[in-house]
Amino acid sequence: MCTNPQSPLLTTLVNTLRDATVPSFVFRHTIKEITKLLLNEALKDMPTRAKKIATWQGEMEVECIDESSIMVVSVLRAALPMHEAVIETVNNAVSGFLGIKRDEKTHQSKLYYDRAGDCSGKTVIVVDTMVATGGSVCDAIDIVKQKGAKTIKTLHVIGSPEGIKQIEERYGDVEIFIAQIDRGLDENKYIIPGLGDAGDRAYNTF
Ligand code: PRP
Ligand code: URA
Repeated sequence: MCTNPQSPLLTTLVNTLRDATVPSFVFRHTIKEITKLLLNEALKDMPTRAKKIATWQGEMEVECIDESSIMVVSVLRAALPMHEAVIETVNNAVSGFLGIKRDEKTHQSKLYYDRAGDCSGKTVIVVDTMVATGGSVCDAIDIVKQKGAKTIKTLHVIGSPEGIKQIEERYGDVEIFIAQIDRGLDENKYIIPGLGDAGDRAYNTF
């Protein structure tokens, strides 16, 4: 299931990223702001539980998400700002990192680094800035499933219709949250109009 929340604020933030003249720190910051808006959508069905806290008026029982039941797994590199946004918001979430890179000629994704631990019983939030062919995020989903994820939600800034279709067809049980679905892919499997190479733009590695 794919949720594509629409709002003037989200549209404006995505269009800030489309401006090729924005510096990398604005690019990363804007990705973080978009991620927090998507995260709010993704966590709407999370159960809360009572916890006692010390307030200025003494002890009080309040309802909070069980943050330790949440694991965020990012697909390097462009998703690193998304990862930061999730753990800034859900402070006690567990982190995992997957290095997945597309081959420039074949466009096939390849895992080169796995630093994601046991996902058993966790609500796993996979963050991957771009869904082009969908290969990278599908690899990430396969890995967290093998590691025992209970529930999987994915967050993305921009995707192509074919990439989204690929995730939906392969995983009926994964919830996708995406800020913008663009027109399609070019002959190099880049999203059109898209952002260009999001990892390079986020970290000035041209
Ligand atoms: C980009 C992007 C996604 C992937 C999407 O990463 O961050 O992870 O491509 O493409 P796909 O849907 O066709 O798999 P890239 O492979 O460029 O790695 P990088 O961020 O390290 O440059
Ligand atoms: N990776 C990117 O960073 N951008 C695209 O458009 C496709 C893959």
